Amino acid sequence: TRIPLPYSPKVLEIFRNPKNLGPLENATVVESAGSPACGDMIKLYLRIERIDNIDVIKEATFESYGCAANIAAASIVTEMIKGKDLRYAWNITWKQISDELGGLPPIKYHCSILAVGALKRAIRAYYKKIGEHPEWLPKEL
Ligand code: FES
Ligand code: FES
Repeated sequence: TRIPLPYSPKVLEIFRNPKNLGPLENATVVESAGSPACGDMIKLYLRIERIDNIDVIKEATFESYGCAANIAAASIVTEMIKGKDLRYAWNITWKQISDELGGLPPIKYHCSILAVGALKRAIRAYYKKIGEHPEWLPKEL
């Protein structure tokens, strides 16, 4: 038997009615990240446009293969980055995502870390694709 997790109302609301769910036809980058903790996955689709020399996320959608926290974290991150520039998006933390969700149970922190991981991969993939490396983007280890 499974013990129900103490999910916040916000997590449950998004789980039942996720925003920005599904593939994005004209995505600039598509990247996924998997969690070593549970084998779950998040796939992020971003449409990025350069406006006045700033790379802006015009659209963001996701697909999730995982638990309620995974879906909620992926959905809220697409809302948090829409209309924002890549530098801002790069600096979003798993804690900010968790806070936006009204707090995740500690054993679900990694779901939020997974969402950040997918976002960082997508940002790196974008700069690889266009062959640039902005000064704020840390060198890959
Ligand atoms: Fe795998 Fe969350 S533990 S679905
Ligand atoms: Fe692993 Fe949610 S992503 S339990």
